Amino acid sequence: MTDRRYITTPIYYATGEPHIGHAYTTILADALARFDRQAGREVLFLTGTDEHGQKIQEEAARRGVEPIELCDEMAERFKDAWDLLDIGYDRFIRTTEADHISVVQAFVQRLHDRGHIYAGEYSGWYSVSQERYFTDKEIAPDRVDPISGKPVEWVEEENWFFRMSAFQEDLIRHVQENPDWIVPEVRKNEILGFLQQPLGDLSISRPKRRLRWGVELPFAPEHVAYVWVDALINYFTASGAIAPGTAPDDPAWDNVGDSWWPADLHLIGKDILTTHAVYWPTLLMGAGLPLPRQLLAHGWWVVGETKMSKSLGNVVDPLQLRTDYGSDALRWYLLREMPTGQDASFTPERFDTRYEELANVLGNLASRTLGMTAKYRDGVVPDAPAGGLDEAIETACADLDAALAAHRVHEALGAAMDFARAANGYVEEREPWAQSKDPARAEDLDETLATLVRALVVLSALFAPVCVQKMEELASRLGLDGVPTLTDARTLSVGGRNVEKGAPLFPRIERD
Ligand code: MSP
Repeated sequence: MTDRRYITTPIYYATGEPHIGHAYTTILADALARFDRQAGREVLFLTGTDEHGQKIQEEAARRGVEPIELCDEMAERFKDAWDLLDIGYDRFIRTTEADHISVVQAFVQRLHDRGHIYAGEYSGWYSVSQERYFTDKEIAPDRVDPISGKPVEWVEEENWFFRMSAFQEDLIRHVQENPDWIVPEVRKNEILGFLQQPLGDLSISRPKRRLRWGVELPFAPEHVAYVWVDALINYFTASGAIAPGTAPDDPAWDNVGDSWWPADLHLIGKDILTTHAVYWPTLLMGAGLPLPRQLLAHGWWVVGETKMSKSLGNVVDPLQLRTDYGSDALRWYLLREMPTGQDASFTPERFDTRYEELANVLGNLASRTLGMTAKYRDGVVPDAPAGGLDEAIETACADLDAALAAHRVHEALGAAMDFARAANGYVEEREPWAQSKDPARAEDLDETLATLVRALVVLSALFAPVCVQKMEELASRLGLDGVPTLTDARTLSVGGRNVEKGAPLFPRIERD
């Protein structure tokens, strides 16, 4: 693994409110970025909004505003939501930024100059909801798009095409030779299955008379770029590989190695796998650019057994959950509950169960440890051996690393929680309340308390990428200047520190 990581989320359509699905991907990226930073890696964490295309144009018209007004408002809405959920992105890109537009134009001109673009006629079924064409087979029998279930429209128009078919063999080879390029495996197989059919060429433009809200093609000013082409290039723009205004044949394109490109990890939902695993890599091959190192496609949050959708009125609002339970609890629930890569069902009961896990295991360990240190030692951590849980710490760190390396984030968090459980087990085993009654066992009690404080220091580091605020709070109660790195947490001296009990970290929450 390199000591730099470039992690991206999809850029979200600037049409709707941020919902739990958007929140999940973005929190997942944030937690991975925090784990990386904690391990000493330099990180570029990119998110943003997808602001061109028919969907935006239609929504703006419906609201009676200009598209850019809608985008300005929605971009702020997403930024505010991410702030409230403690998402510390490094860059928020908007596809209407002048710099991005300039890179898109240079990118498509480069494809054109390299002979990969031609003019043609298109006819097919278009879904505005997904901003994609679908085949007859895919929309049968109800003429709806297979992802959103919304009606498709028949479109016939003159378009510019990217010779995607020319890269089919190279793409298949790439997927086969790099078995971890698309994870989980089921998604890799889905793409290999898709690539068994001849790959068509990709329509990369829309005539302006039908769609004016997009990036003008430099070689055909009567057309705008197809929104997915514009959107995918965001990852490249934000890498800083090509300065805006760079000519399409500048040598800089052949030497992007000093920038953040290629991305290390594109996090996406399984709904947008084809665009990321077929359109994007072939476009990059056409431009002669390196491919992203990995795609991780996660599953869907559903409600009960049902898909979340505005029309069903069952969309879960992440900001309401934050108001009710706090950002840490929401982040914990989403990342701990969904097996990375699979679908998961949102239920209030499971939310409560996961919250209680935080309260009864981690919260409880913190209150008893800090409470006993206050009661038996006036809040000063004894200067005594603190290694009573070293083996458990070793196991937790190894399990966490292995799970993260395998992109099993839920298991990584499970390993952290198992360690908190082990520390509670240590309390039961050592019975500090009994040790405190026997003056001959004062040293044993010192060792118990020092070991437990060490455990809390380590736990603050293990949980911090997810429970951002509460672990800051815990670190401050432990007399630390911020949450330590995991390496420091295992070695810094705990003896002599003043600790403070404070209120429960995860208080009981009454549901009405
Ligand atoms: N704008 C495109 C992406 C362009 S990326 C170059 C787009 N936007 S979107 O607003 O529809 O967001 C899609 C993403 O939101 C999904 O890929 C996924 O990350 C997330 N989710 C939306 N609904 C979801 C669930 N119900 N469950 C989990 N995540 C889902 O597509």
